[in-house]
Amino acid sequence: MDKIQDAVMQFEQLLQKQISRAQKMREQGNFLDYRNCNPLVIGVCGGDGIGPIITKEAARVLNALLVDEVGLGKIEFRNIDGLTIENRVAVNQAIPDQVLEELKQCHVILKGPTTTPRVGDPWPNIESANVAMRKELDLFANLRPVKLPEQGIDWIFFRENTEGSYVLGSEGIEVDDVAIDFAVTTRPGTERIARLAYEYARRNKKERVSIITKANVIKTTDGNFLRDCLAVAKEYPEIQTDDWYIDIITAKLIDPKRRKDFRVFLLPNLYGDIITDEAAEFQGGVGTAGSANIGKRYAMFEAIHGSAPRMVAEGRQIYADPSSMLRASVLLLSHIGQTKQATRLERALDICMFEEKKCRVTGRSDGATAQEFGDYVLQTAINLEM
Ligand code: IPM
Ligand code: MG
Repeated sequence: MDKIQDAVMQFEQLLQKQISRAQKMREQGNFLDYRNCNPLVIGVCGGDGIGPIITKEAARVLNALLVDEVGLGKIEFRNIDGLTIENRVAVNQAIPDQVLEELKQCHVILKGPTTTPRVGDPWPNIESANVAMRKELDLFANLRPVKLPEQGIDWIFFRENTEGSYVLGSEGIEVDDVAIDFAVTTRPGTERIARLAYEYARRNKKERVSIITKANVIKTTDGNFLRDCLAVAKEYPEIQTDDWYIDIITAKLIDPKRRKDFRVFLLPNLYGDIITDEAAEFQGGVGTAGSANIGKRYAMFEAIHGSAPRMVAEGRQIYADPSSMLRASVLLLSHIGQTKQATRLERALDICMFEEKKCRVTGRSDGATAQEFGDYVLQTAINLEM
């Protein structure tokens, strides 16, 4: 009986925390206008595994594209070390306090992949640094574009990032043979991601938004997510809204006739994680996809993949593909209002990855190194006439 009482108390605390989080969201103001930040501080955090190698290439390109602003003191780059699995384990924290303090001094962050421990690893099973950072900095929207022009694929995923099954993923309850995890959906949490997706669709003239859930089975959290997204959709009558279940949409993405009609997807955390890996595979794999984690105060830009410990164990890390971090840098540039440089880098990446393809990264010694590919993209970007 004591065990049950303990579990009930644990649940009560979780519930109270989530209720007060929902309340705080209601009181939250508008997005910080980065044009008023002088200087705008960009933190560069390499992470671990292949992270530092591919992040270095992206930071090098960003530095070159923003050299004038840096010279004028309008933008400042700051290196943030210490978000490695060794350091995190040493202090038993998903993000060491000192690193978190430094991150909070920045406005936007370019972050390399970080290792997420799991049972059987040589370190304790601490919380994912990604999940922790998204929670700590309240980065509620995870934007993941996927493009394959020759097949008409032009998608962007709006994955809810601070709720769903992930944010309480280290706070499950176990009593004897029974284990229970929690998923959480709040009305203000759903409304803010939905509004961002619809505003994006409106601004970018995307004619369609597809909401993905499994609301027919997971009736409370997914049910409410769908209900609250549909309520926001009503404010955007010019945009066509449809809703899909995660199983069938996963199938439809591999149907060449149907998939080219999708534009914007809006979905909870877990489904967003899974389907964006599938989606990235069409454009060349997770190594080619970047993502933006957007909040009202902070924003963080990263690859959609992990730290590739296998590559490091096999000594292949110098051949890691920096495209994901370079794509993330396009999103960073556009988020801070550097639209011209964002277009320049995006165009250069399209040329290097899909058109000219003078050098290719394969992840092995038969392909280019991260640095060679970084040079190629940088030269292409600089030489572009725009
Ligand atoms: C991602 C990753 C992370 C996630 C992991 C590393 C926690 O898979 O960014 O998609 O699941 O969000
Ligand atoms: Mg993932």
